[in-house]
Amino acid sequence: MGNIESELYKLIDNTQDYIQYGMISDRKLPEMMLKKEVPDSLEKIAGEVAQCSRCRLCEKRKNVVPGIGVLNPDVLVVGEGPGGDEDIQGLPFVGRAGQYLDKWLDAIGLSRHTNCFIGNVVKCRPPMNRDPQPDEIASCLPYLERQIAIIKPKFILTVGRISSAVLAGQEAGIGRLRGRTYSFRGIPLIPTYHPSAVLRDPSLRKPVWDDLRRLKAELEEIKNVH
Ligand code: URA
Repeated sequence: MGNIESELYKLIDNTQDYIQYGMISDRKLPEMMLKKEVPDSLEKIAGEVAQCSRCRLCEKRKNVVPGIGVLNPDVLVVGEGPGGDEDIQGLPFVGRAGQYLDKWLDAIGLSRHTNCFIGNVVKCRPPMNRDPQPDEIASCLPYLERQIAIIKPKFILTVGRISSAVLAGQEAGIGRLRGRTYSFRGIPLIPTYHPSAVLRDPSLRKPVWDDLRRLKAELEEIKNVH
């Protein structure tokens, strides 16, 4: 039976089902009418984020900041949320703290251009750079979870109290959280201080350097195994 003919029979069959039962079984729908699942992608997520109004942070944003970097990165760096410079440019960690973060990464052979992905717990700037609120984090976190499932980082580096507590699943300050390796969806996670905090308090440089060295060592270990 020709293709058109068989599709026609299905259509007649469907029409009879619809008249008799008020519904059509998916099994009988012509191939072309079945809804195809579009695979998730970073572009799809970025598109959804651009339209997002799940929380109040959408009201004052200039741009969304979905994140940037490479697929299958050695490290995914997760910050708290965009600041003023990031809000203007739509890119994460591009202000003073971001430039300092780039130096940290460079010191251990990492870069957002070659082997890292950089993102945030919330994708829109909290007004006056206040902390993102728990409901804002809860609304935005599914985007980061989907991004992580796609990019598949070998390691996660959380910078600052908020991203560290959220992804490590621990309610504690960063001073107590750091120094250990946690796991997020099976991916090893190292928390450290936020670069802005270290710019304000140089005594935090030493613990950050300890965390970065440990990250490098654990990353090498993973790469040697695989
Ligand atoms: N601070 C963050 O936590 N994220 C950014 O993107 C910029 C500053």
